[in-house]
Amino acid sequence: MAKLNDEQKVDLIKIASNVRKWAYVPYSKYQVGAAVLTGSGRIYDGVNIENAAFPVTVCAERTAVFKAVSHGERDFQAIAVVTKDGGMPCGSCRQVMAEFSPDMLVIVADESGKIIAEKKLSDLLPGMFTAKSLDD
Ligand code: THU
Repeated sequence: MAKLNDEQKVDLIKIASNVRKWAYVPYSKYQVGAAVLTGSGRIYDGVNIENAAFPVTVCAERTAVFKAVSHGERDFQAIAVVTKDGGMPCGSCRQVMAEFSPDMLVIVADESGKIIAEKKLSDLLPGMFTAKSLDD
């Protein structure tokens, strides 16, 4: 797992926090901001985007990861996720991140920037389904 220093963590949390205002959340009003740090050192942010057809909603973590992957990134060091209360990433987002970087660091912070959880993704998704299962 990548070792981030405190400055890198604070930076990532700030970026995730700053984009929360762009969350499209007319239904839940629950703004989520995410910022993913790639292996190449770039940062992609994302917010949750809801839809009147509720299940079509996309979480902030997946928005950030999908933006990164669409720019050729497949290796992630860490993600910061910021909500008002430090809510944890959902199972679908954990699975999407695990596809690329099972050992990445997941940092969860509240709106004051306080770190609520800091864990390796594989500890958040034990027994994950991986591409290995698809081998012949
Ligand atoms: N949400 C996220 O953006 N990330 C998560 O990991 C959990 C939930 C969003 C989806 C929805 O817009 C709102 O939070 C309430 O579920």
